[in-house]
This record gives sequence, C-alpha cells and structure tokens, in this order.
Amino acid sequence: MCGIVGAVAERNVVQILLEGLRRLEYRGYDSAGVALLNNGELSITRRVGKVKALSDALDDESSLGTTGIAHTRWATHGGVTEVNAHPHTSSERFALVHNGIIENHKALRDALSDKDYAFVSDTDTETIAHTIAEARKHCDTLLESVLQSVKSFHGAYGTVIIDKEDPNTMVVARSGSPLVIGLGIGENFIASDQMALLPVTRRFIFLEEGDVAEITRTTVKIIDASGEKVEREVVESSVEHDAGDKAGYRHYMLKEIYEQPAVIRNTLQGRVTPDGISDDVFGEGSDEVFAKVENIKIIACGTSYHAGMTAKYWLEAYAGVCCDVEIASEFRYRKSVVKPNSLIVTISQSGETADTLAALKLAKESGYMSSLAICNVDGSSLVRESSLSFMTRAGAEIGVASTKAFTTQLAGFLMLVLAIGKHKGMSDTLKSSILQSLAELPSKLEETLTLADDIDDLAEEFSDKHHSLFLGRGDQYPIAMEGALKLKEISYIHAEAYASGELKHGPLALIDAEMPVIVVAPNNELLEKLKSNVEEVRARGGIMYVFADKDAHFKSDETMRVLDVPHCSEAIAPIVYTIPLQLLSYYVALIKGTDVDQPRNLAKSVTVE
Ligand code: F6R
Repeated sequence: MCGIVGAVAERNVVQILLEGLRRLEYRGYDSAGVALLNNGELSITRRVGKVKALSDALDDESSLGTTGIAHTRWATHGGVTEVNAHPHTSSERFALVHNGIIENHKALRDALSDKDYAFVSDTDTETIAHTIAEARKHCDTLLESVLQSVKSFHGAYGTVIIDKEDPNTMVVARSGSPLVIGLGIGENFIASDQMALLPVTRRFIFLEEGDVAEITRTTVKIIDASGEKVEREVVESSVEHDAGDKAGYRHYMLKEIYEQPAVIRNTLQGRVTPDGISDDVFGEGSDEVFAKVENIKIIACGTSYHAGMTAKYWLEAYAGVCCDVEIASEFRYRKSVVKPNSLIVTISQSGETADTLAALKLAKESGYMSSLAICNVDGSSLVRESSLSFMTRAGAEIGVASTKAFTTQLAGFLMLVLAIGKHKGMSDTLKSSILQSLAELPSKLEETLTLADDIDDLAEEFSDKHHSLFLGRGDQYPIAMEGALKLKEISYIHAEAYASGELKHGPLALIDAEMPVIVVAPNNELLEKLKSNVEEVRARGGIMYVFADKDAHFKSDETMRVLDVPHCSEAIAPIVYTIPLQLLSYYVALIKGTDVDQPRNLAKSVTVE
C-alpha cells in the first residue's frame, strides 16, 4: 500500500528518494511521484506505473533538490492517473504526500471550494494540502498550521508537507498510518517504513499516534497528541540492510519460501529449552496472564487469520484453553461478548493492518484482561499497542504473498501452546513431544523443500485451469485455506478451500475434470475420513493432487497424482504441509506469467480500511 519517503539535506536528495521508493515497491502501488525544493523552486514529477518510469523522468542532471518528498500511491479515492498521484500541491507553494484516508474529505472539499481553492484531483489528499495552506495564512509556522489543521481531519493519515517559503523544513503528522523519522548527520529523513531509509541511516524515531513533527537538517521537534513537546526514543535498527535483495532467486517469494527453515530456527532460538519455553518470551508478566487465562480470542486478516485458525485447533487440543478466531474487519464492527479471563491475541506480519489495529483498540475498550501481539515488525503499531508481544523473526518479507511470516507465526503459536499449557496441566509426554517436534521442524522443512522440482512439473497441469478446490481436515483445513489463498493471489486462478467433511453439503456439485482438487493428507487420526472424501471426489470424475505422508498409502493413478511429503509428527504437520502448497502456487504463477511478487490489485501492508 502507499509509501512515503522524505529528506532534508545539504546534498541532492533525488537518488535517496528514488531508492527509498524502490525499497517500498513491494508494498504494492499504481503510480509514483516526487516533489523537490531547489533554490526556492518547487518542482513536481509524477508518473502512472512503476518507480522506474518516475526515475526515467527524473534521470537528467536538472533534477535537483536538497529537500524533497516522494510517494508511491495505491489508489483509494480517484482513479489511477497522473493527476491523482502524489505529491499534491496548494497555492503553488506547498507540496504534500499522504498515506491513509481522510473520511470527511467531502465536507472539507466543500468548505475549501467556498474559500476559492480549486481542486485538480479526485483525491481526499488534496483537501489536506489546501487545509494546511489555509491555516498557514494565520499561523506563524508550518508546524503550527499542521497542528491546527489535523484537528479537522477524520480518518487515517501519515502525511508530510513541504513549503517553498521554508525550504529546509518538513512537517509530518501521524494518525493511523505509520511514520518513522530517520536521523542522519546534518540531514534527516522521513518514511512510512524504515526499510526505505536503511541505505542512509540505521537510527530511527518511531512516531506515535497523534504526533506532529517538524524536521530540519539538524533538528527534530515532536508534539504529541495532547499538544506537549516530547522526546521519543531513538532506536538502532536491527533490520538487515540488504533485506531487499533477492539473493540470486528469481523472485522474493521464492527466496522467502526457501528461507523458512532458517527463519524458523531463528524464531525458536534462545526461546525453547529442553524443559519448555523460556520465561517472558511473550513479554514481561506473560506468565501471570497465562496462569489466569481461560479464553482466547484471536483476531487477524488474510494469511495471519489462517495462522489463527490453525492455532485454535492446537490451543484447544493441546493446552485445553477455549479459543475463538475472528476476521478483524468483522470483529471491529459487531457487538461481541467477552468471556471471563479472556486474552485477545492479534496476529500480523506488518503490525500495521488497519482492521487488526482497530479490532485491538475495540478489544482493549471491551474488558479483555490482556492483549498479545504476534508480529514480525518490532516497533510496529500493533506491538506498541499490545501489553504482551511475541516477535516472529522472519526478517523482512517483501513478496506480497505471505510465506515465511505465516510459518513463523505458526511456530510462535506452538510456543504459546507450551507456555499456556504449562499452567493447564499439559502432560509431560505431550510437552516433550511438541518440544521434540519443534526441534525437528527446520530440518523437516528443508526435506520438504526438495519436492520443488516435482511440484514444478505438476504445475503444468494447472496452467489452463480456471478453478480449483483445496481440501483438508482438522488442523489441515486452515492450511487448505491458506493454499487456496496463495493460489488465487498470485496465479489469479479461482481457488476455494473446504473442510473435506463439508464436500457432500454442496461443493461436490462442482466436481468435474476441469476442477483440480488439491488434498493435504498427513497420516493422522482423520486419515480414514479423508480417504472417504477422496473417494467421493473420484466417484464424480474429479482429478486430484494429493500431498500425503508415505504411510498414508495413497497411490497415483489416472485420477490422482500423489506427492510424498516427509513424515512428520502431528503437531508440526500444518507447518510442513504449507510448504508444498506455497511451491505449487509459485510454480503455477510462473507458468501463468503473473507478477509473482506484486500481484495485481494487492498491497503488502493494508493500512487503510
Ligand atoms: C496474503 C497476505 C495477506 C495478509 C493480510 C494481513 O498472502 O499476505 O492476506 O496476511 O493482509 O496482513 P498482516 O499479517 O500484515 O496483518
């Protein structure tokens, strides 16, 4: 989703801004633009399409600026056009970029039109630029103008404004859309994600909700939501500088699929001991919360929601704690009942998903005894807003389709099961078996990745298909859902997932030779039930692709192609069986020739509703 980069320096900042935008490309966007201040002149360059088109347009020596702001836009209000791309301007003096949505933009537009502001775009963002320009008429500084203007904005914004009359200053405001200040030496920066600034600094200040800041080359002044001047902590980033590098893989997604054994090793390291889970892995005081917890509510979106669905099976079966899972966008708009001693658990790769954040806010107001965030981005809004947190150590995930974030979330949940189970009478046998399974997990994933060539062959058979069905039972049902989501996201083939016991309640009507059926079949207590479902499909002429444990004794024939997945214990089977489904969607997408890392219409981090 939209990305922001800004810089105020003595040197020319054009390449810093462009590199920042390139590093945010993975988030998904449809147009890009830059505003530069140079010797009292304001210049704007915008292009529909990729950052490359923008950099080609700026690729001559006359593109200079010591202060500049840049943006990648993912259209919300107004179509994908150059005129709607950011930066937007006001009064031939101010230039502004914005992430988020101003919900009262119509009312603001009407009021500003009455004051003779002419709107050139269809965006909500242009109302921010004109509101600040209007405020500047009676405020002494740009900072004051922004502080006054934000009072009239309803909705979400991360915004940066520059003024050609004050060329060495950027003013930024954050509410519902993240912004991070990057500190340099004699130069300072702003971005919506630290990734954008890693080539120029590793020292960051994460702005809090309601913060407005004035940034010059040498100073940073932050005013918080209550109007007080505040000092915020300077954080040294631990994100790898080259996290945005494909390391020889054709796509980030493939690189991230192959990173899974290593990042899971990382996620477990120092947290799992032969006796269980180390103290406070989930945050200070987590042990007391886990001792008291009787009910868990998990909230998330998309792939993270599927991790929550899987965790429900584990938490109830292994830890004996009642667990509900809900999509954040539903939870946030309904009245729900909070069960006694309930813990709210949010899951998010980015930690900035608007619906998940809003759901957490609502939960905190509704009487949950504590909140836990399972997240991949330290310092993200979700982590900061939660009482407890667990950081998955997946490293930067660039491919829009989530892979390694999902499997590290699942590894985190198995640790949560152990940490809670300790207080709920989990038997030593069960505990040792989960610990043993976790220890084996990275090598099982390595073994499973060796299926890649077979899956690449198999993908050929999907290239002319328009629909597909994924089946699983028990804790493999959410894995089937995740497999279907991956396939539709990156290959654009319609895919649905069903708990296979549901087949005869409707979806069997869809079965024919044109509808490939993908089945995940570990050797567990539901295997015989699953086999009956497979026979139901076969009897209706369906063609199946079965990822199965060797001991499950499926045999390939003219209606069924079986791929052997390495034998693994039941606890980690959902994680292991995720891998072949990720590879399948990747290879099908390759054949279909889609944009694997940035599939159409999707964004990496969904920071608007
Ligand atoms: C799918 C995918 C999305 C995200 C969802 C939530 O591959 O990546 O479904 O899982 O947008 O994002 P996070 O986890 O950042 O909250």
